[in-house]
Amino acid sequence: MEKNNIINEDIDIQVAERRNLKGNNFKFKKYLMFIFFFLIFLLPFIVLAFKSNLKLNFSGINAVKETINDDLSILGHLPYKEISKEKLVFIEPNIEVHIDMRKSLLKMRDDAQKNGINLVFLSGYRSISLQKDIFYSLKSMRNQIAAERAKVSAPPGYSEHSTGFAIDIGDAYKRETDFEVEFENTDAFRWLKENAAKYHFKLSFNKNNKNVDYEPWHWRYEGSIEALKVFEASNRNLKKQKN
Ligand code: DAL
Ligand code: ZN
Repeated sequence: MEKNNIINEDIDIQVAERRNLKGNNFKFKKYLMFIFFFLIFLLPFIVLAFKSNLKLNFSGINAVKETINDDLSILGHLPYKEISKEKLVFIEPNIEVHIDMRKSLLKMRDDAQKNGINLVFLSGYRSISLQKDIFYSLKSMRNQIAAERAKVSAPPGYSEHSTGFAIDIGDAYKRETDFEVEFENTDAFRWLKENAAKYHFKLSFNKNNKNVDYEPWHWRYEGSIEALKVFEASNRNLKKQKN
């Protein structure tokens, strides 16, 4: 009797119906197809949204970079590291410049001379310590507050002259215009305006500069990657001012 019971229990064991399984699988595939086509339909919109978000993010990053640049500047001057001594060379007994710009600078002076123009180099590399003396002693002598002095002279650590890539130029026939706005009326300045870019020199403080006074005598060299890197933030700011 007991043996019979065991056999019956075996027969009553439930078995899953394959018919049902097939039906569920079909429904699942239908859902998958629906999701797939839905996504295909949405894809262009997703891509567009992603791209515009990316653009937004990039403009956000640029805005942050610009704010950082602005924050780094003092009285309208950007910070510049002092060039190492090994990269400096004398071009005159009292004028040192970055070795990268020596050849170009001397060629510019030679070519100008061939055109009857006599360029005089007034000031090249200035250490941060010298810039400190210039900024604070002159400021005090002239009874000027820092903001007034910064219009004509950079605070220490903020002068292009400390990079070795800046040069102040005068006209040998018009020495009374040295470091004066009137230098713009000399033949030397007219020649520089026409030709300096050929030698990779650019006027740093033009008439559009909001923070620093116009300096027709102050030129900077942008003819090497190192120089371009040094002036990248400044060039970005100038572009921003133009827009
Ligand atoms: N005169 C310029 C601004 C300088 O001192 O670097
Ligand atoms: Zn200068």
